[in-house]
Amino acid sequence: MTCDLAVVGLGYIGLPLAQRACAVGLSTVGYDVCAPVVEGLQAGSSHVDDVSDGDVAAMGAAGFRATTDPSVLAGAGTIVVCVPTGLSPAGDPDLDSLRAAIGDVAAQLRPGTLVVVESTSHPGTTEEIVRPLLERGSGLTVGEDFHLAYSPERIDPGNSSFTMSNTPRVVSGCTPLCAKHAVAFYGRLVDTVVVARGTREAEMAKLLENTYRYVNIALVDEVALFCDKMGIDIWDVLHCAATKPFGFTAFSPGAGVGGHCIPVDPRYLAVKAESEGFSFHMLSAARDVLGRMPRHVVQRVAGLLEAQGRPLRGARVLLLGVTYKPDIADTRESPAFAVAALLRARGAHVSYHDPYVPSFECEGTPLSRRTDLPEALAGSDLALLLQDHSCYDPTLLARARCTVLDTRGRTAGVRVTRL
Ligand SMILES: NC(=O)c1ccc[n+]([C@@H]2O[C@H](COP(=O)([O-])OP(=O)(O)OC[C@H]3O[C@@H](n4cnc5c(N)ncnc54)[C@H](O)[C@@H]3O)[C@@H](O)[C@H]2O)c1
Repeated sequence: MTCDLAVVGLGYIGLPLAQRACAVGLSTVGYDVCAPVVEGLQAGSSHVDDVSDGDVAAMGAAGFRATTDPSVLAGAGTIVVCVPTGLSPAGDPDLDSLRAAIGDVAAQLRPGTLVVVESTSHPGTTEEIVRPLLERGSGLTVGEDFHLAYSPERIDPGNSSFTMSNTPRVVSGCTPLCAKHAVAFYGRLVDTVVVARGTREAEMAKLLENTYRYVNIALVDEVALFCDKMGIDIWDVLHCAATKPFGFTAFSPGAGVGGHCIPVDPRYLAVKAESEGFSFHMLSAARDVLGRMPRHVVQRVAGLLEAQGRPLRGARVLLLGVTYKPDIADTRESPAFAVAALLRARGAHVSYHDPYVPSFECEGTPLSRRTDLPEALAGSDLALLLQDHSCYDPTLLARARCTVLDTRGRTAGVRVTRL
């Protein structure tokens, strides 16, 4: 069977890519090693926030099918690899999924195919890791027999203003011809294609984008720590600074950073830099500050309770929003894990409310889930707003009978304290 596109890895970036390809008329298949993901999609159900079950049905009607069989890759004109590049338990870059996926691609590779890597990784990954694996595994040569490109995904889950099609797409190739093929492919999917000088520049651009957020969030977190010590209202500081119409971009403090990108990508950069004998001082400083935030939040919780003569041990603490960003269901690397663990370690009874997260485990033990928000607020000593999902109406929180610690700076009220 032949098709225009095979997407390898049908997660937060692979599935929207397959959806967009179907929408523009490319015959598309999806390959994933996870049987439940494939079975779910084949049964018409989406596991990704930005793709609805209706979207999956429309993809099916356009001929899309998902499979765990890598032989589908053999018939594809273009293969795009969107597998996870996370961290190992020791906190180091883990390229096992990427290596395994490239191994599968190599075994099926046919002359003339365009292979694109979208997974985020350190500069040099495409040339130093992907290219040799593909060439050795297939016996084919990049630039002569097949084309190899790198194009970092910039998807922002939950963002309806900037989607795949209207977000400019950086594209690079191992050779000018590889880049030309990749530009032609992405030109069908997105409005604007930006051609990088080479794959290392495109890889580095992606890491710079996310490291920029990482470092700036750490900066504003450290400013928040200082403001707390000085009795200065950080939220008013941010409000004032953000009125400057040039030269300042506002970031918000909070309990830490989460998600599959912001806490992870700088680690890829730092480890690669170390291997080259280069130290990224900004990254280690930012990592240190971000790592202090969950403890600071828990200290604020304890302080607020103590001010009412109530020890943290035995107090009923309700976490509001446990995902890593608002109005999505993704809890990967969410700072809520660290906050819940620290609260529990200090003897608090921790429950959570989150309309997007049916179950939430902290260090192997599930947290009790509350679904009725007013009732949950009434039954708690303190509510800790970690994520500002739009369901958290500031008026409702302001009227809560329990103490509220708002880490997002959204709420005001007599019993509300902001981080
Ligand atoms: N999620 C985001 O917002 C985002 C944004 C930009 C870039 N990225 C990058 O995109 C990449 C993928 O991230 P994601 O969030 O889509 O991950 P994900 O975990 O949501 O999905 C990855 C999918 O790949 C599958 N998979 C794993 N190993 C495989 C293999 N060997 N062969 C085939 N399938 C395999 C998994 O089963 C999973 O379904 C990562 O490098 C990430 O850093 C993610």
